[in-house]
Amino acid sequence: MLFKLTDEQVMIQNMVREFSRKVVGPAAAERDKTREFPAENFRQMGELGLMGMMVPVEYGGEGADAVSYVLALSEIAYSCASTSVVMSVQNSIVCESLCKFGTEDQKQEFLVPLASGEIIGAFALTEPDAGSDPVSQATTARKEGGEYIINGTKRFITSGENSSVVLVTAKTDESLGHRGISCFIVPKGTPGFTVGHHEDKMGLRASDTTDLIFEECRVPAANILGKEGDGFKIAMSGLDSGRIGIAAQSLGVAQAAFDAAVKYAKGRKQFGVSITKHQAIRFQVADMATQIEAARQLVFSAASMKDRKEPFTREASMAKLFASEMVQDITARAIQMHGGYGFTKDYEVERYYRDARVFTIYEGTSEIQRIVISNAVLKDKRKP
Ligand code: CAA
Repeated sequence: MLFKLTDEQVMIQNMVREFSRKVVGPAAAERDKTREFPAENFRQMGELGLMGMMVPVEYGGEGADAVSYVLALSEIAYSCASTSVVMSVQNSIVCESLCKFGTEDQKQEFLVPLASGEIIGAFALTEPDAGSDPVSQATTARKEGGEYIINGTKRFITSGENSSVVLVTAKTDESLGHRGISCFIVPKGTPGFTVGHHEDKMGLRASDTTDLIFEECRVPAANILGKEGDGFKIAMSGLDSGRIGIAAQSLGVAQAAFDAAVKYAKGRKQFGVSITKHQAIRFQVADMATQIEAARQLVFSAASMKDRKEPFTREASMAKLFASEMVQDITARAIQMHGGYGFTKDYEVERYYRDARVFTIYEGTSEIQRIVISNAVLKDKRKP
């Protein structure tokens, strides 16, 4: 492997791998059927420091680097993609936004319980008519005295039901475009804030995805994250980290599908020999291994740029674009290698294929990643 992990990173990877395969994996297929939220897994993940990995130790986190985080997240995704998406949103868009933009009081009140895994967090940007174009969102927040009053509906919110606190974007000044969007910390139980429709999804079925409805929902003015008008910047910078997470998640599912396909191929005989003796299968194995390794390097590269505090927006989008497209191909090929069995629910590749489908869609579609990458490349004065 080109990228050399430190001893500590290898130790974290091994610890999470063991936990993931022993604790998270065994009931993943059952949860896919029942849609049961793996609350007990998150409790244990909190104890292991996986719910606020990059949060500084003084706020109850692990103070881990981004490379350790992507290693841990891919290991969780290897066993259960539903569990990994909750971990990803919690660690990146939620905890990181609070770390970066929160006041000391906000950190004590919200970040500390999030980092320990005592509570789950959600981030609400998307709306029924504002997905790729969040600036067109319709949710508003008007200030009255010492409060903001939020009105609007958010859609496709990961952990909408199971979260205890949500970071919500809303327009505080319609005339200012993206600079008129602000971000608010809204705890569950706030009057006027309810959970709406639950999506019945193709994959990630144990992770809840819901509408959130705000009707004259009053929050103290002190619950604004950053300043008025910072909401779009908070969302974009949170998504930079989130996108590395989705890339790591893609890597985990791809590795699981690949390992399952290789195991199946080694045990399957046709035409009198193991199918791994056929070049048609051997070449699939070679292509799949190469694609996964290429994605891994992009994920590590983006994460280590983040650790070095270099700008990493472009590299996060590259990793997300490549890894999320790669896992579509890997899971499809893994099914192909299983033949008819791959099309049944008796083999895990069927679930991997469904779970992975959303990776090219959420936290910015592949088309949005191409916009971010091309904008960065074309603005870069060092490039011809
Ligand atoms: N970090 C910080 N600020 C950023 C930024 C970044 N990465 N990218 C842009 N900005 C800032 C810019 O500096 C600029 O601010 P100023 O004008 O004050 O300088 C402002 O944002 C606008 O920048 P652009 O003009 O470049 O933005 P744009 O409007 O042309 O493009 C976009 C933006 C890339 C298309 C963006 O709208 C986008 O990413 N859309 C996709 C949204 C998305 O990913 N949604 C996913 C939903 S969340 C989800 O899926 C969560 C879940 O539950 C799993």
